[in-house]
Amino acid sequence: MKNIVILISGTGSNMEAIVRAAANERWPATIAAVISNRRDAPGLKTAASYGIPTFVISHQEFPTREAFDQALQEKIDSFVPDLVVLAGFLRILTAGFVEHYAGRMLNIHPSLLPSFTGLNTHRRALDTGVKVHGATVHFVTAELDHGPIISQAVVPVLENDTEETLAARVLQQEHIIYPHAVHCFIEGKLKIENGRVHIVEKDYS
Ligand code: GAR
Repeated sequence: MKNIVILISGTGSNMEAIVRAAANERWPATIAAVISNRRDAPGLKTAASYGIPTFVISHQEFPTREAFDQALQEKIDSFVPDLVVLAGFLRILTAGFVEHYAGRMLNIHPSLLPSFTGLNTHRRALDTGVKVHGATVHFVTAELDHGPIISQAVVPVLENDTEETLAARVLQQEHIIYPHAVHCFIEGKLKIENGRVHIVEKDYS
């Protein structure tokens, strides 16, 4: 069994999609913990309703970004994770933290990277007038929203879209591609070569 630790800051709908897929598809994996940096994150209750241990490590209680990341790392490592999943975890991470989980930390970003890194991706997609938008699952590296891409989902941008309607269309796709990418990782199917991710069948030799 592989251990997965999921980090959230809010609703946790991606976390829930992963938890459900893991159970329904009988992944050889345990969601060992869900950790939030916000005490009021609704996803904490959702995780608890599935019987998953939940924890809060509030960034507000630490004097520096480094001190927070250190405490977070200690908590995560107490579960001996094979994989750390950022699921709407809205914190910029220190280079040391990212390095510690190199090759075993995934993120989902609500845009077709490398377009629209950072915040307010749906607003910026509408303002720019792009005709397609989407979401990207990628390995986390030190540069924000720039790690090797595992998978992407594309949605149309419709004439009368608002930020909300576009976000909802993207989120629906996130709930499909993120569990799939996590499953591939757990099955040992993701290989990184020259900064590119290949999805390979398992090597039983
Ligand atoms: C998702 O849309 C995710 O892509 C985004 O936050 C939302 C979290 O929703 N993440 C980022 O913007 C990271 N830069 P959720 O809490 O319901 O999963």
